[in-house]
Amino acid sequence: MSRLRVIRRYRFSASHRLHSPLFDEQRNRELYGKCNNPYGHGHDYLLEVIVGGEPDAVTGRVIPIESLDRFVERVILRSMDRRDLNTEVEEMTALVPTTENLAAVIATRLESAWPYAFPGVSARLEKVRIHETKRNIFEVSVRPREPENESREAAQNVVKTK
Ligand code: NI
Repeated sequence: MSRLRVIRRYRFSASHRLHSPLFDEQRNRELYGKCNNPYGHGHDYLLEVIVGGEPDAVTGRVIPIESLDRFVERVILRSMDRRDLNTEVEEMTALVPTTENLAAVIATRLESAWPYAFPGVSARLEKVRIHETKRNIFEVSVRPREPENESREAAQNVVKTK
């Protein structure tokens, strides 16, 4: 069977203000323009979760879409939809909530929760893409995980040779 990708889209809305505490007001305005306006603004984000794998021989599916929906709802949407990214999303509070940073936070969350949500499923999370506007699209590639046994053996080898 050939490997293919499933792309599932989700929508959520959130507000943010681009502002770095490392710079003064003027530098912030130069860097972020209107996005630095003091009271923030909102976006209707389009999130794409991209999963790669082979269709299951019995079900014909790479991943059960309903399970993927529940997973994304639980890990991302529940805590990000209708929220303020600067203050309400824990990992974002220490970051400038650019959509680059948002995409990276979403990818990290999905990647770290994936093995627990889909144990034994060979399909893997390949990419996360987020559309902030029609013209601003950000994509994060998720690197394949090393098989756990191999990395454990590698770690032991390092210890042995010392
Ligand atoms: Ni914005």
